Amino acid sequence: MSGGRVIVHLSDLHFGRHDGRLVRQLYTVVWALRPDVVAVSGDLTQRALAAQFREARSFMDGLPSPHVIVPGNHDLPLYNLFARVFNPLAGYTQFITRDLAPTLSDEVVWITGVNTTRATTWKSGRVDARALTRVRATIRNAAPGAVRILVAHHPFDAPDSRKAVTALEALTAAGIDVFLTGHLHASYAGHTAQRYNTGGRPAIVVEAATATSTRLREEPNGFNVLRVASRSVLVERHAWDGTTFSLNDAQAFSCGEEGWTAVNG
Ligand SMILES: [Fe+2]
Ligand SMILES: [Fe+2]
Repeated sequence: MSGGRVIVHLSDLHFGRHDGRLVRQLYTVVWALRPDVVAVSGDLTQRALAAQFREARSFMDGLPSPHVIVPGNHDLPLYNLFARVFNPLAGYTQFITRDLAPTLSDEVVWITGVNTTRATTWKSGRVDARALTRVRATIRNAAPGAVRILVAHHPFDAPDSRKAVTALEALTAAGIDVFLTGHLHASYAGHTAQRYNTGGRPAIVVEAATATSTRLREEPNGFNVLRVASRSVLVERHAWDGTTFSLNDAQAFSCGEEGWTAVNG
């Protein structure tokens, strides 16, 4: 069997309202992890300004590649209503990536990003029917036995939870094994049945803290590392300890006949 894959999951970088010391330390720590993929679940900037996108771009350029990046609500202009309605992702596509459906695939992992931002409802997000159709079609290209990962900015519980849970159930039915999200600035590792009370095959839910923003909600800055092998995923949560990012929590999951379950938990 081939070796496992290391995925670094960053979120909510919020360039423009970031702590430079954390940014510098994050470079060092991420390089030391030798990731196969760096996934970023949105909110790269604080206010979608060109200067903030430039900083985010140069940060990403300094990290190991490849990357799977999706936009967050903060990557859409908040105050410029004209831009928000007519070309909400202009800055994101100019500076970060034009690819709004980034997909990477090998024999161990299949990973895709979905844009959940909406121009009209700035804070809330949604997986629309077109994205669902695209995931259903492209996931067929995943290698047999590959762990299938979806990256999105918004978690699936707020604010329109019924629609979100319906989308989550459709995505797990389509074969998604792991959801990587951000937005809440709070980390979490569990499974869908536990987090969202869904039916069907349980999948893994991983939410990331803000990696570098100075705007914190109840927990320190942090990011996640996923160590993915055939039918197993270890989710490590790394948190800022005042000096560096260090391992704070690890949860293993394995995939059996009935889907994904937490090991010893
Ligand atoms: Fe955020
Ligand atoms: Fe957000």
